[in-house]
Amino acid sequence: MNKRITVLPGDGIGPEVVEGAIKVLDEVAALYGHKFDYNYEKIGGVAIDQENTPLPEQTVNACKESDGVLLGAVGGPKWDTLPGDMRPETGLLGLRKALNLFANLRPVTGHESLTDSSTLRKEVVDGVDLMIVRELTGGLYFGDPKERRQEDGEEAAVDTLSYKRSEIERIVRRAFDLAKVRRKKVTSVDKANVLETSRLWREVAEEVSKDYPEIEIEHMLVDNAAMQLIRDPKQFDVVVTENMFGDILSDEASMLTGSLGMLPSASIGSGGPGLYEPVHGSAPDIAGEKKANPLATIASTAMMLKYSFNMVEEAEALDAALAEVLTQGHRTGDIAKPEDKVLNTEEMTEKVIDLLRKQVKAA
Ligand code: NAD
Ligand code: IPM
Ligand code: MN
Repeated sequence: MNKRITVLPGDGIGPEVVEGAIKVLDEVAALYGHKFDYNYEKIGGVAIDQENTPLPEQTVNACKESDGVLLGAVGGPKWDTLPGDMRPETGLLGLRKALNLFANLRPVTGHESLTDSSTLRKEVVDGVDLMIVRELTGGLYFGDPKERRQEDGEEAAVDTLSYKRSEIERIVRRAFDLAKVRRKKVTSVDKANVLETSRLWREVAEEVSKDYPEIEIEHMLVDNAAMQLIRDPKQFDVVVTENMFGDILSDEASMLTGSLGMLPSASIGSGGPGLYEPVHGSAPDIAGEKKANPLATIASTAMMLKYSFNMVEEAEALDAALAEVLTQGHRTGDIAKPEDKVLNTEEMTEKVIDLLRKQVKAA
């Protein structure tokens, strides 16, 4: 198959991890006889520096015309004092909105050999396998007004939390559809004891659940969910929640796998190209040092193969290679124990490619 991929390396460690992921995609293409054409575009800080906007129109158009989008990360201290609409992060939010990517899937899958890398006890994290389904184009991130203004004679700021019934329904349905092919449980996380949006969310989730009698639905308040994720993460199968709660809970959940550098994501809408990116950011503290763990980004490309290209066999082979890399004990700094040999980003990428090749040739 022939696929066009728009590549948005972005800022900080973004270009470092994306470079690795592209090498892996090239290997997938070679092994399976596909052709991937890459179209590099700018987003975030690098776009601000070169084009004076975090999201050039050309980038949006290129993404719309492609079969899938791969993104590294955006942002960094250099751009932190710019006004809100000029920030790198605003470029990413604008892209998610422009492509109508309302469903952000963030799988949290533990690996046996990494249970020691988690700050939690082995028996708590061993066998963790959950999917966070984060609403991505609504809520506090996008509500209007979002502004500075005067209140009672002093400076104030406002963000608006608003959800329409249709926005809740479509994301909750996605969660139930995913639960069907998993362990048939959906935990809907909200703050219905305080927020009106959450009360609507809960109502809609209940209604949607009637169409899925075989799936268990549970409602959980977000503060309790944050605690339960650490206390007993294996109670969760699919977790569905609004934009901001999903952002926070997914970074928290990443530690169940040992590192934020392990968590991939897929952002999908209804039809149209999906966006694939690691959950982590541009990691300014290690940018340029080749220390970044590329596995989250590589696992995101496996999600692209599966969800956007329907290359299920390829995706499974890549996931198997990623698991084998860990089983064999290959480690970047973020998941290494003191006695481990620490690989840099490129060395880790090479291990994935090597094991993918072996995997496919042996099959
Ligand atoms: P971060 O995710 O960039 O980093 C948090 C910590 O995790 C850091 O210590 C970092 O070194 C470590 N880390 C992250 N990814 C890693 C990897 N692949 N390998 C090894 N270690 C890794 O979060 P932050 O420091 O709060 O944010 C930095 C910048 O990134 C900010 O400008 C923020 O807005 C942006 N950001 C962007 C995205 C995105 O583009 N999707 C996501 C989150 C944060
Ligand atoms: C993420 C990031 C983004 C978000 C930022 C960079 C806008 O934290 O993808 O999780 O909050 O969605
Ligand atoms: Mn985040």
